[in-house]
Amino acid sequence: MSSGDLLSAADVTRRRLMQLGAAGAVSLGAPHLAQAAQAAARRTMIDVPLQKREPRLALIGAGGRGTSLLGQLLAVNAQVAALCDIVPAKAEHAASLVAAAGQPKPALFTEGPHHYEELVKRNDVDLILVATPWDWHAPMALAAMEHGKDVAIEVPGVTTIEQCWSIVHASEQSRRHCIILENCCYGYNETLILRMIHAGMFGDLLYGEGAYIHDLRAELFSNAGEGLWRRTQHTLRNGNLYPTHGLGPVANYMGIQRGDRFVSLVSMSSPQRGLDLWRKDHLAPGDPRWSERYICGDMNTSLIKTARGLTITVKHAVSTPHPYDRINLIAGTRGLFQDYPPRIYFDGMDKDETFGSIDAYTQYQHPLWLRQGELARASGGHGGMDLIMIYRLLQCVREGLPPDLDVYDCAAWASVAPLSVESVRRGSAPVEFPDFTAGKWRQRPISAIATQS
Ligand SMILES: NC(=O)c1ccc[n+]([C@@H]2O[C@H](COP(=O)([O-])OP(=O)(O)OC[C@H]3O[C@@H](n4cnc5c(N)ncnc54)[C@H](O)[C@@H]3O)[C@@H](O)[C@H]2O)c1
Repeated sequence: MSSGDLLSAADVTRRRLMQLGAAGAVSLGAPHLAQAAQAAARRTMIDVPLQKREPRLALIGAGGRGTSLLGQLLAVNAQVAALCDIVPAKAEHAASLVAAAGQPKPALFTEGPHHYEELVKRNDVDLILVATPWDWHAPMALAAMEHGKDVAIEVPGVTTIEQCWSIVHASEQSRRHCIILENCCYGYNETLILRMIHAGMFGDLLYGEGAYIHDLRAELFSNAGEGLWRRTQHTLRNGNLYPTHGLGPVANYMGIQRGDRFVSLVSMSSPQRGLDLWRKDHLAPGDPRWSERYICGDMNTSLIKTARGLTITVKHAVSTPHPYDRINLIAGTRGLFQDYPPRIYFDGMDKDETFGSIDAYTQYQHPLWLRQGELARASGGHGGMDLIMIYRLLQCVREGLPPDLDVYDCAAWASVAPLSVESVRRGSAPVEFPDFTAGKWRQRPISAIATQS
């Protein structure tokens, strides 16, 4: 991303945080004190319905992910009014997809990294999807809410604890939602297991495991797409940079923000070797990337304790050879499920204690998959879960329901990245999670994803 004399994403976030601070929303110096002082005055966004309407959408970031999301949006007949990307050809390509779907050509915003600030002011847009590099998610979400728009941001959400608080306060003050687009929560297996959990099949839950283990070495060193920005993150922080794909489904299983919450975390990183070795094997002498210093350990393992005493292991490994794996494990007093490949075991099920297939439990298939599964599978998008997520997002707006994954989910899940960095920095010392809900996690009912019928 070229910055030139323009403000960086971090500068923009700081500026918006200061604007919020000036309005009494957040104190940069002492967020915990500010939290206590403001808790009473805060108006929660928990279970606040989205305004019922046929939403007019905008997309910021028409790269790999944005283009894929656009395909899902068009598949469920969403109206796309505006598109933004700093690369005009990407915005034009996205616009051609909208036109091919029979809609009027959307308004385009392609004049530099801050042109989104004009898009968010439009009065023909209700919901903005953000699929840009990570550092832009916070300023774009804040700008959208500031201008009265609901916003849905790609994973991993935002990247610092200050940003977590800023989106929470901005959502509460603007009465607009900040939704996290965690597609893995809508996978076939994840939704099936969620329903089995709520049918009581696993007994009392005890522990879970999630991961993002994905060999991204070639992508990180690519001269296109994520290679332009994501490798840089490995020069800045050592921890779990991308926690939500593994964590989101496990958090839903456990009812995090709904009767339980993350309380503390410890984190350890292995040495970093993978990116150095890839560079040695693939880059010519003199390549500018030889000057980079990678500090993020190849395998980060974080362990979270919840208020009810459950434990969650979350792993991150993107720079070593490994088949793709999100682990997706949940265990209770009566059995456990583990993914990759999917397998299930219930107490007394098999005298040899071998896992069984989940195919025996199709009666728990989620209604969303039952009704939209064919379209979802045909559309691709991570085995169909992307379409299910987008269909459900649109359903929530069209029917005026609260979103499944709101700003509190976004903040809690995203906070794992900076907290893991902090724990690693302090020799794996325990670090505490803020309670972004100000205690309201205690009363909240289970996830609407589970109760869909
Ligand atoms: N949920 C998933 O399964 C999934 C999959 C892939 C990526 N992602 C996430 O989606 C996001 C985007 O990733 P990607 O793979 O599409 O990356 P990408 O690099 O392919 O696309 C990012 C796009 O944002 C544009 N951009 C950068 N700065 C901008 C600005 N200031 N204003 C407007 N546009 C700007 C870039 O030109 C590019 O087209 C990331 O957060 C990534 O982690 C999620």
